[in-house]
Amino acid sequence: MDNKILFKRDIIYEVIITTSNLDGSPNASPMGIVYDTKNITIKPFDDSDTSKNLIRNKFCVINLTSDPSLFTYSALFQEELTPNHFTTLNKIPVPILSACKDAFISLRVKEMKDIAPERKAFICEIEEQNVKQTVLLPYTRAFSSLIEILIHATRIVAFADDLERNRSNIKQLSYFIQHHKEIIKRITDENSIYQQLLYKIIAKIEPIIRIIQR
Ligand SMILES: Cc1cc2nc3c(=O)[nH]c(=O)nc-3n(C[C@H](O)[C@H](O)[C@H](O)COP(=O)(O)O)c2cc1C
Repeated sequence: MDNKILFKRDIIYEVIITTSNLDGSPNASPMGIVYDTKNITIKPFDDSDTSKNLIRNKFCVINLTSDPSLFTYSALFQEELTPNHFTTLNKIPVPILSACKDAFISLRVKEMKDIAPERKAFICEIEEQNVKQTVLLPYTRAFSSLIEILIHATRIVAFADDLERNRSNIKQLSYFIQHHKEIIKRITDENSIYQQLLYKIIAKIEPIIRIIQR
């Protein structure tokens, strides 16, 4: 298992990238990654801490998980992640999510390219792959819908910097969120982790959506 590359080429996979902040504290953010049979590319927006950390310190870790809570907290509630969520391992120069200590790939940035006015591509080589544990979880649409909601919600939070300019984008994203919210409500119990996370996310973005609806 250890050395077999898990990714098919040229497909975006959603993972959690950990990096080290300037003050040495750990940072975790969901990001899309693409494997091209040689390198792994990450495309964070320039205003993300992940981008700033990768410019300063060329190392990061791909944390492989399908835990909806880890995706939610690292996307929108990073301040609620505790030191227990992270661990450090010998030889790996950045922190890892504790839940992923047997399911991670460490990377070193070898090239950086501007790909859009506010976005760079970091082309990385694999330093170490440690994927001992691949648990096959039964598939639920609730996970996919939650990931879609999170992607849209993180854009809404970013767009809140300039509400006038981004009004129509925010409106469209909130419409997409509504669609996925209905799926989650239809296929999960109201006490499920999916609905708990759903309402936590909604509570965060609702004030922004309310302003543009005025
Ligand atoms: C599944 C998923 C994939 C994401 N992919 C990216 C990405 O490829 N690039 C990016 O800049 N942000 C992406 N985001 C949004 C970031 O995770 C989010 O903005 C995060 O707060 C950035 O944190 P940071 O500032 O600590 O890096 C994604 C979010 C989710 C939920």
